[in-house]
Amino acid sequence: MIRVENLCKSLHGKTVLNDISFEVASNEFIAIIGMSGSGKSVLLKHLAGLMQADSGTIRFEGKKLNDMTTRELETLRSRMGFVFQNGALFDSMTVFDNVAFPLKERGGIGRTEILERVQGVLDQVGLSDMGHKYPSEISGGMAKRTALARALICEPDYLLFDEPTTGLDPIIRKSMLKLFKTTQARLKSTGIIVSHDIPEVFDIVHKVALLYQGSFLVFDKPEALLKSKDPIVRQFIRGDIDGPIRYN
Ligand SMILES: Nc1ncnc2c1ncn2[C@@H]1O[C@H](COP(=O)(O)OP(=O)(O)O)[C@@H](O)[C@H]1O
Ligand SMILES: [Mg+2]
Repeated sequence: MIRVENLCKSLHGKTVLNDISFEVASNEFIAIIGMSGSGKSVLLKHLAGLMQADSGTIRFEGKKLNDMTTRELETLRSRMGFVFQNGALFDSMTVFDNVAFPLKERGGIGRTEILERVQGVLDQVGLSDMGHKYPSEISGGMAKRTALARALICEPDYLLFDEPTTGLDPIIRKSMLKLFKTTQARLKSTGIIVSHDIPEVFDIVHKVALLYQGSFLVFDKPEALLKSKDPIVRQFIRGDIDGPIRYN
């Protein structure tokens, strides 16, 4: 379970996160939507302990991130699976070795078990026969699925996806979203996905947050956002050019 209270962060004198508070229960999957540059990635980086807040607190299972020792933070991170926009695979390693990497890093796991677990995860993401390929030999969708497999190999309790489907065609995108959902449900993970896949992403999450001017303008069930009469929410969901949101 993740609880964020009064989180504030300024970067280069600009307020990016302005007093954000929210909670994500265990086994709950939420989406964060919002304009480019609104602070979605910055927020995820705070949750991953990769960026420090100016003020406010982030708690995992009741324990403050700031009070954790380096070791506790490492343990927490090892329970997180990340998929970032540019899923950065190791080019010199096969798909199999990319996925095996976190397991090997963790250490203390035998070759046979590594082999079985990697193959199991590759099967789940539909890459059963691709283990021997190098990143340059596979499609963009397969590379994303490899990045997902790598995030899943340690069966994370927390799933953090930052625009994991960007650049994929609509069909692969939909199948990836479905895969995120089934994975989150199977692992009963606490999941957060930053996405521009509106409205498709609404079908796989319990709640949606719209990050706007540094805080959550709404944080509610997908149906509530779809029915919202708030002109900003409506404009954002429908992608209208005209409305209260203006790009300079
Ligand atoms: N490491 C950083 N240093 C300085 N400014 C940053 C850094 N990361 C992000 N920003 C700024 O913070 C704002 C939010 O960025 P970001 O979270 O990446 O937006 P989003 O993911 O919603 O598109 C932007 O104005 C961006 O320029
Ligand atoms: Mg981003």
